[in-house]
Amino acid sequence: MKKKKITVFSAIQPSGHLTIGNYISVLKHWKVIQNQYKCIFCIADLHSLTSITKKNFLQKKSVLDTLALYLACGVDPNKSIIFIQSLVHEHAELNWILNCHTYYQELTRMTQFKSKTEQIKKKINAGLLNYPTLMAADILLYQTDKVHVGQDQKQHIELTRNLAIRFNSHYGNIFNLPELLIFELGSKIMSLLEPNKKMSKSDLNQKNIIYLLDNLNNISKKIRSSMTDSDNPPRIFYDTINKPGISNLLIILSTLSEKSIFELENYFLGKSYLELKKEVFDVINKHLIKIQKKFFIYRKNQSFLINIAYEGAKKASIIAKKTLHKVYKNLGFLEKINF
Ligand code: TYM
Repeated sequence: MKKKKITVFSAIQPSGHLTIGNYISVLKHWKVIQNQYKCIFCIADLHSLTSITKKNFLQKKSVLDTLALYLACGVDPNKSIIFIQSLVHEHAELNWILNCHTYYQELTRMTQFKSKTEQIKKKINAGLLNYPTLMAADILLYQTDKVHVGQDQKQHIELTRNLAIRFNSHYGNIFNLPELLIFELGSKIMSLLEPNKKMSKSDLNQKNIIYLLDNLNNISKKIRSSMTDSDNPPRIFYDTINKPGISNLLIILSTLSEKSIFELENYFLGKSYLELKKEVFDVINKHLIKIQKKFFIYRKNQSFLINIAYEGAKKASIIAKKTLHKVYKNLGFLEKINF
């Protein structure tokens, strides 16, 4: 097999259940890109600690659910490295080092930090502020060439690049400079009832979200009640400003059916919003039936999943250790030995 030279890194937080937004913008592509690139897919469980509450603490269950979903979506451990972040301690170590090279103002400027702190208001944990440096550590440890994310993570990748440039200019050429890998169409799936807001796992209103493991009847109801508009006669075309609900449904349909928006607009000329919703449900149903079936098969086999997690961590550790060693050496720390 030809050796793949370009490293792609991507990750999802295992907090809560994964959504159709995670699937359309990143997860759906992993099955394909693992044939083109050297892919490293991480389950970012340390990141989940930032949103821990008394009612919502991290569970081994969610981590294994996420792993089983990766496999159900076609990620192949023989082609890609799949690993759980907390099993590779180098992430936390590099995070600290990067924190000491990141300005407070850079972190408070992050739009995700600003919107999350607005929601929470009090008792904001410091992890929420430092979260982008942990992301930078995830990416830089693997000398990543391309980081695959959705729109909402773009700013964090810019910060990662700035940190890498800063670090390299102080200590020599240590980190590869990662580029963004975004598939524009579908890189920001909106909430069903509030289509001006990104669909998010942490939304309290369940009707805004389609989970990959949702019951299919429930999904049908959620799509039927999704926000459209009051145009009379109904007009189905792509215009995110004036028709955000319809545009969101068109994007979901387009990315999952692989028909262009233009093709869909022609197809729906003169048709009703109900007909659009029916087609959206049919295509989601087609994808999720297969994924859910495979998910339950993988999920039943816990020892198989745990084995994949340990094997992946071993492979990831080899790369991460090499980078961290270079970092410590160039920072002037004493050489590490096994005590
Ligand atoms: P997370 O878990 O929130 O989301 C995982 C990926 O899904 C994308 N995404 C969406 N894309 C389109 N529409 C949506 N509604 C939507 N919601 C989420 C996100 O952009 C993301 O790519 N911090 C990251 C996980 C992470 C990571 C990393 C990613 C940790 N370390 C290093 C890349 C590189 C996060 O919370 O993503």
